Amino acid sequence: MQTPSLNLNRQEFGNSANIGNVLSLEQAHALLNEWVLNERLKVHMKQVGHLMKVYALEQGLDETQAHKWHLAGLLHDADWDQWPDQHCRKIIEELEARAIDSEIIRAIACHGPRYFGVEPRTPMDKMLYAFDELSGLVHAYSLMRPEGYVGMEVKGVKKRLKDKTFAAQVSREDIDDAAQRAAIPVDDLIAFVVAHQGSTDLA
Ligand SMILES: [Fe+2]
Ligand SMILES: [Fe+2]
Repeated sequence: MQTPSLNLNRQEFGNSANIGNVLSLEQAHALLNEWVLNERLKVHMKQVGHLMKVYALEQGLDETQAHKWHLAGLLHDADWDQWPDQHCRKIIEELEARAIDSEIIRAIACHGPRYFGVEPRTPMDKMLYAFDELSGLVHAYSLMRPEGYVGMEVKGVKKRLKDKTFAAQVSREDIDDAAQRAAIPVDDLIAFVVAHQGSTDLA
C-alpha cells in the first residue's frame, strides 16, 4: 500500500520554535473532514488518535502533552485518501505551513520507517508507529465478531495476526518492528488496543 518513493529524505521536521503551537480538536476535525472522504479511513485515524491520547495519559503525561499525541494519531493519514502518492509529505507540509509543533509533525513522519525513511526517536514517534497497523487489524477483527469489541481476547487477535490471509494488507512485519522499537511485547500492545479502541468517540 505504500512504496519506496514515499521516502521523505530528511530527518527533521517543522521548527522547534513552534513547540506548543497546536491545532484545537475542532481544527483537527475540520482538516480531517476536508481532506478525508473515506469514512473507514476517518474511523482509523480517530481510533489511532484515541489510543495515543489514552496511552499518553496512562503514562502520566499531562493534558497538554496528551493532546499532542492525540493530534499525531488523528492526522497521521490525513493525505492518504486523496493524495496516496504524496503520503505523508502533504500533511507534513501543511502542518509546517501552519507552524504546528515540530514534535507532532515528526511523529507523523515516523509512522512507517521503511516507507518514509524516518527513524522513530521519541515515545510519541514510537507509539504512533506501534499502534497504527495493530489498530487496523484489531478493528477488522471487531467487524467480523457479532459482539464487536465486547469480550474480545488477546488470543483471538493473535490468531488473526498469525493468519496472513486475514486483513492481508496489515503488515505483520511492521507490527513486530514497531513493538521492538517501542520495547513493548506485542501481546501487551494488543491488550491495550483491545481494552481501549472500542470506546473511541467516532463523532
Ligand atoms: Fe500511513
Ligand atoms: Fe494509519
